[in-house]
Amino acid sequence: MIKVVKNIIDMQKISLEHKLKGDKIAVVPTMGFLHEGHLSLIRKAREFTESVVTTLFVNPSQFGPNEDYNRYPRNFERDLDLCNQAGSKYLFNPEVLDMYPKGFNTSIKISGVTDKFEGEFRPGHFDGVATVVAKLFNSTLPDYAVFGQKDYQQTLLIKKLTKDLNFPIEIVIAPTIREIDGLAMSSRNTYLDIEIRKKAGVLFYALNEARKIISEGETNRLRINTSLHKALRTIPEIKIDYAASALADTLDEPESFFPGDSVVILIAAYLGKTRLIDNEIVKIPYKLNEENFIIT
Ligand code: PAF
Repeated sequence: MIKVVKNIIDMQKISLEHKLKGDKIAVVPTMGFLHEGHLSLIRKAREFTESVVTTLFVNPSQFGPNEDYNRYPRNFERDLDLCNQAGSKYLFNPEVLDMYPKGFNTSIKISGVTDKFEGEFRPGHFDGVATVVAKLFNSTLPDYAVFGQKDYQQTLLIKKLTKDLNFPIEIVIAPTIREIDGLAMSSRNTYLDIEIRKKAGVLFYALNEARKIISEGETNRLRINTSLHKALRTIPEIKIDYAASALADTLDEPESFFPGDSVVILIAAYLGKTRLIDNEIVKIPYKLNEENFIIT
């Protein structure tokens, strides 16, 4: 049966006790209102160890002043039950005042991979994420930490945070879990009203359009981006923050990609009042001649 841990020092003690016994710890950081995507992360963590800690903390410092911190969906009992069923041993659920006591005055800023896309549209967001993830790492002392690819830029930030601050943690990125129409699972999908929900598969459609032209030989970045915008605009209710392609490791945006490059296609858009993000990684194919040799 899963155990709920509220206190940071208690959590550290539990993790240390496991480590003394030689157990490995895997953490799955979440903001709750769990769905199949989160549960797949817990199951992934179980592949590494039985000592899985899921964290549930709606982190105020990663929400902008006009964002949805207060109305972010919450359901503790349901989350507890789902975590238990997915095989998490602990649910770490600290209070805001324990994570950020009076006088808390530290913020971690990672530049480079956070500068554009989400970084541009959600100023301060990534500082909040980096700071809370470092605190969650220090509270749970994991050997492994599992995150979803859906928050692609966040995964780059977490890898950088772990490397730059020497956390002895292996970062594991698990694939995005999608609804039948391709909509990436997200706690925020509950904001979509019925009519808009029917159209929300458009993000996945646009990602696939880009994938298709890349597989047919397109390497020009702006032409790839244009295909994304065109596909998204088939829905009148859409307001695009960005729809772009970039090198997957660095988010650099060259004029054209090269065969063998891993490219991330990134979308952030409002459907009605709800902001959705999604991404896919696509490999730029090598060109083959008639004998199937690579053309250089
Ligand atoms: O991806 C999330 O749910 C959050 O950004 C995280 C990593 C739990 C930090 O609050």
